[in-house]
Amino acid sequence: MQIVILKDAAEVAQYGAQIFADQINKKADSVIGLATGSTPVALYQNLISRKEAGEVSFAHVTSFNLDEYLGLTGDHPQSYRFFMNEQLFDHVDINKANTFVPPGDAKNPISACKEYEDKIVAAGGIDVQLLGIGRNGHIGFNEPSSGLTSRTRVKTLTKETIDDNARFFAADEYQPHLSITMGIGTILDSRKVVLLATGENKADAVQAMVEGPLTASCPASALQMHKHAVIVIDEAAASKLA
Ligand code: F6R
Repeated sequence: MQIVILKDAAEVAQYGAQIFADQINKKADSVIGLATGSTPVALYQNLISRKEAGEVSFAHVTSFNLDEYLGLTGDHPQSYRFFMNEQLFDHVDINKANTFVPPGDAKNPISACKEYEDKIVAAGGIDVQLLGIGRNGHIGFNEPSSGLTSRTRVKTLTKETIDDNARFFAADEYQPHLSITMGIGTILDSRKVVLLATGENKADAVQAMVEGPLTASCPASALQMHKHAVIVIDEAAASKLA
């Protein structure tokens, strides 16, 4: 694991965006893995600015998102497909047909998980996977106790994650408790992994991921096994590291 500690969230976004821009400029038809949540938003804005400045083009890029709520269609404002369109895809020159998000409206979610895995393999595997981390150490929606070799599957969200994400839903709005997520094994198959974490509320999870034992109790600790994992964090998220 390479640990990069920067001053603040803006520097973390800039550093992370540079990794993705370098990857795409090195290999125009890169396969990139993407994440949702609050943390990657600034990185996506940085990539949009680079695209506008002519510094990077997504024309030949394929993307796979980590996860999606099960039970939401892609036009639901809280779906991760909707988020990706709004935060990145609508603002760059990516071909939307080459952007994949697990289907939250799958009629058969079990076979949809296998199909998602097959699509990643058919695309040649993921070159660089972007990750955030939950306060409980989750990556994607691989909650604590997830198998460290797990593949894309349906997962129940923990109460902590549901509560953390409630801020995105209106008080009377249906909030899914199930998701489809890439497994930890799927994530570890990516050739490079870049995890971003900012803010003091991530400090315990970062400490467990980096210094704790390799354990399903902290799914992100599985990244200790990855040969090319880069952990990009700000000083606040690094504050509990030894
Ligand atoms: C989102 C995802 C999640 C988030 C994590 C952190 O696709 O996979 O694991 O990365 O919940 O979320 P934020 O960035 O909102 O703190």
